[in-house]
Amino acid sequence: MEILESRLNVQSATFKENAKAMEEKLALLRERLKAARDDRSEKAYARHTEQGKLPVRKRLELLLDPNTPFLEIAPLAAWEMYDKRVHGAGIVGGIGIVEGREVMINANDAMIKGGTIYPMGVKKSLRLQQIAMENRLPCINLIDSGGAFLPLQSEIFPDVDNGGRVFYNQAWMSKMGIPQISLVMGLCTAGGAYIPAMSDYVVHVKKTGAVFLGGPPLVKAATGEEVTAEELGGAQVHCQQSGVSDFMAEDDADAIRIARQLVKRLPKFPKADVTRVDSQPPLYDPKELYGLLPQRLSVPFDVREIIARITDGSEFLEFKEQYGPTLVCGWAYIHGYPVGILGNNGILFPDSARKATQFIQLCDRDGIPLLFLQNINGFIIGKEYEASGITKEGHKMVAAVSTARVPKLTVVVGGSFGAGNYAMCGRAYSPRFLWMWPNAQIGVMGGEQAADVMITVKNDQMKRMGGEGLPEDQIDAIRQAIIENAEEEGHAYYSTSRLWDDGILDPAQTREVIALGLAAALNTPFEERTGSTVYRM
Ligand code: COA
Repeated sequence: MEILESRLNVQSATFKENAKAMEEKLALLRERLKAARDDRSEKAYARHTEQGKLPVRKRLELLLDPNTPFLEIAPLAAWEMYDKRVHGAGIVGGIGIVEGREVMINANDAMIKGGTIYPMGVKKSLRLQQIAMENRLPCINLIDSGGAFLPLQSEIFPDVDNGGRVFYNQAWMSKMGIPQISLVMGLCTAGGAYIPAMSDYVVHVKKTGAVFLGGPPLVKAATGEEVTAEELGGAQVHCQQSGVSDFMAEDDADAIRIARQLVKRLPKFPKADVTRVDSQPPLYDPKELYGLLPQRLSVPFDVREIIARITDGSEFLEFKEQYGPTLVCGWAYIHGYPVGILGNNGILFPDSARKATQFIQLCDRDGIPLLFLQNINGFIIGKEYEASGITKEGHKMVAAVSTARVPKLTVVVGGSFGAGNYAMCGRAYSPRFLWMWPNAQIGVMGGEQAADVMITVKNDQMKRMGGEGLPEDQIDAIRQAIIENAEEEGHAYYSTSRLWDDGILDPAQTREVIALGLAAALNTPFEERTGSTVYRM
């Protein structure tokens, strides 16, 4: 393979200014992640520990193999939503290693409003399940939850992608042969009772764990019966009488010990067959990415500079280098895993879309996972390109991205706008994972363009009605409002808060995170290729 030669001037003033700006963004990211991890009220902490329960992060520490990575998913979900303290949407979730095996963990944080489930918590649970199903990962649920966050019950309960879907997915995972282990470490109330009930294995902690369809307050209200949580759904009831639980644990640590034993005896599944090579670091320091990334999205840069800082040995075998130059395609290895990379070097033209379609088909046929580095304003527009069929060329690329059977991973390294988001494997195109960089922005179009469109529409409308068009002060007001809105809603934090992505990454850690994502993705063997997409010619 060719070694990419960097043209980045690491001594230049621009590099230093960019690096400083990125360091500031990363300091903010670290601060927000720390708050998500640690910001709990003293009252909640005291209540949790007086019951003899371990904090959720301590539970995870005991569960995971020592010194192994934990690929946390959406740690900033629900950021700044609700009362601004429902960190991680009340759930810690991600892929960890237990007894040498990759597993999906979904753990309630009972120090956030009693571990109750907010709408974004449902969305996060569904996302964790989707990752588990797509990547055939056994699931471990650490349950400690007061059930639905009642003031928002209408947003959690009845719809297709609301709470009921979690249990529906559990039934399907069981059928798919994906083992599910639930540890009852606190309350599993109402709908929450179905999480252990629908699991293959249930470990129940004495005294603190309880499972019931209606908790003591509801039972009293409905029947007048006075009963404690332990009498209603404690470990003895469910391990000795009802048969809802399979193992009784003395405490949290004991439950985790049992869960580890269960994972140890799970059968191994066949993995996807890819040819791995020895891993080697890139020739260029990944931290140089900080100085590469311009402070404004409108300033272009060569995506090969990113590729040179994430691939093994900075090697890259570029495909059709001279053709469709606004999209760079080629093969590389990341931590020894083969990948086909597509990275934007400008807007998509007909030739770049055709090149992408061919490249995706090659990778798909040869069983090579795809990595999309998104920095895209969209497809070229205008009379000439419409006449030449840009939409039909875009269709080919979108169809190839949609139907590729190999794992797809996406990192938004800059802008993610318009149909470019679709063609470059945005969230709706089922990448196994999608991450944002702190500088990334997402939206139907940039704020300036959206403002121009709206001003033109309003102007034409007023003229049509016999007026003189929009006065200057209204133009400015419309422009400002639309730009402000686009900036707020296009921000990486807005995206990650709403689970449009799996988290915001430090660019320098991207290589490691991609490798973890690839390792997880290869747990699912490649499907047989069946049928063929009809491409509009
Ligand atoms: N909806 C909204 N808020 C809830 C809630 C629910 N279902 N359950 C608990 N909370 C809130 C409490 O109001 C409290 O809020 P605060 O910190 O702002 O005061 C916080 O969660 C912690 O609750 P608290 O009762 O003080 O803590 P605890 O550790 O003693 O008990 C629970 C936690 C979850 C066991 C207990 O609150 C409980 O039984 N909740 C009701 C469970 C239920 O019946 N849910 C049915 C939903 S389908």
